[in-house]
Amino acid sequence: MKFPEPLNSLNAPVVKPGGLLAILGGGQLGRMTAMAARNMGYRVRVMDPETNCPASFVVDETIVGRWNDVAAARQLAAGADVVTLEIEQIGVDALSEVARIAPLRPGVEPIRIIQDKTLQKKWLADAGFPVGAFRVVRNEAELREAVAALDGRVFLKIGRGGYDGRGQARIGLDAPATQEVITAAWESIGGRPAVAEQALDLDYEISVMAARNPSGEVRSFPAARNHHENQILAWSVLPAGIPAELEARAEALAAAIIARLGLEGLLCVELFVTRTGGLLVNELAPRPHNSYHQSERGCVTSQFEQVVRAVCNLPLGDTSLITPAAIVNLLGEVWLNETGEPDFASALAVPGVRLHLYEKKTPRVGRKMGHLSATGATAEEALERVLAAKRRL
Ligand SMILES: Nc1ncnc2c1ncn2[C@@H]1O[C@H](COP(=O)(O)OP(=O)(O)OP(=O)(O)O)[C@@H](O)[C@H]1O
Ligand SMILES: [Mg+2]
Repeated sequence: MKFPEPLNSLNAPVVKPGGLLAILGGGQLGRMTAMAARNMGYRVRVMDPETNCPASFVVDETIVGRWNDVAAARQLAAGADVVTLEIEQIGVDALSEVARIAPLRPGVEPIRIIQDKTLQKKWLADAGFPVGAFRVVRNEAELREAVAALDGRVFLKIGRGGYDGRGQARIGLDAPATQEVITAAWESIGGRPAVAEQALDLDYEISVMAARNPSGEVRSFPAARNHHENQILAWSVLPAGIPAELEARAEALAAAIIARLGLEGLLCVELFVTRTGGLLVNELAPRPHNSYHQSERGCVTSQFEQVVRAVCNLPLGDTSLITPAAIVNLLGEVWLNETGEPDFASALAVPGVRLHLYEKKTPRVGRKMGHLSATGATAEEALERVLAAKRRL
């Protein structure tokens, strides 16, 4: 397949405040990006399948369309000064249509690679970036071979469309990897092309957000430390509190990957630190990321302002830490208690705590409805504060 030449270049003009920023996707990431853009005087248009998507309440215009809707994508891009995205699962045809009309940042090619975990993992390995042992599997027989080759303990991840642990199966972790277990895992992901990854012995998880503008300027944020529950991010804190050598290595790795991809915008690199001290890339996200929501409180420039600066070809903002900061996610479960309503007033009585809700109408188990953030004198204090506030809900 041939893609149109990107309209990106080293002498791309600056998209000045007052210009129109368009975003593919109007979820919470699009909403918070839109708020940062508005702060800087931009007009914002989003495209989303839902009329009442979280961003719809804070933007100038919402175009309703599914992720592969080429006509809606055309409407989104028409008259826009620059187009970015908050979700990587946009159809390549829709992306190409956008790129024909307006500068699309990040470009089509980095998104095409990242949106399919099979392509992404192969790209990382081929480029020489550190990843755990894995195999791409296209049928059950290949999965069986992969499980044997990967010592019987495997995370199976669907190539396209998985998130928050959806489209994932674990093999051989809680019970031996019998034929039945492998068949059930293959069927549970719908029997589609997938990555089989060796289950790693993790010490902890971190992420590094990097930004790159069309002029080629690259900047990393300090690493965040992340904690997952049921494969969904539960909390995240800045700084990660890791050895300086590891911090430097992680930041340099993210900068090298974004440069190698030629990506214009944000790239979040999710990283595993193994018990043997290894630093391995888990996966990439070409957009703002849940693990950097605390950059709004903790850093000179938030991830949302940074993506606006990057895609508008403005100088990248200072990513230094002003204060330790943490977030905890509020999933639909928090609403589904006896009263049906969280006790926000009680949570907000905890010093340093702030509430961020995405205006999603229907709480569902596992659905990200909002988050709490807190600052503190130390990372531990910031984290204790958000966790204490969440317990009060
Ligand atoms: N190979 C592995 N070994 C050990 N743990 C793993 C492995 N792969 C994934 N995990 C665990 O599962 C979590 C979710 O995995 P991953 O990031 O690949 O899934 P996802 O569905 O794309 O999640 P998200 O959308 O939250 O980023 C990881 O953060 C980690 O805790
Ligand atoms: Mg992940």
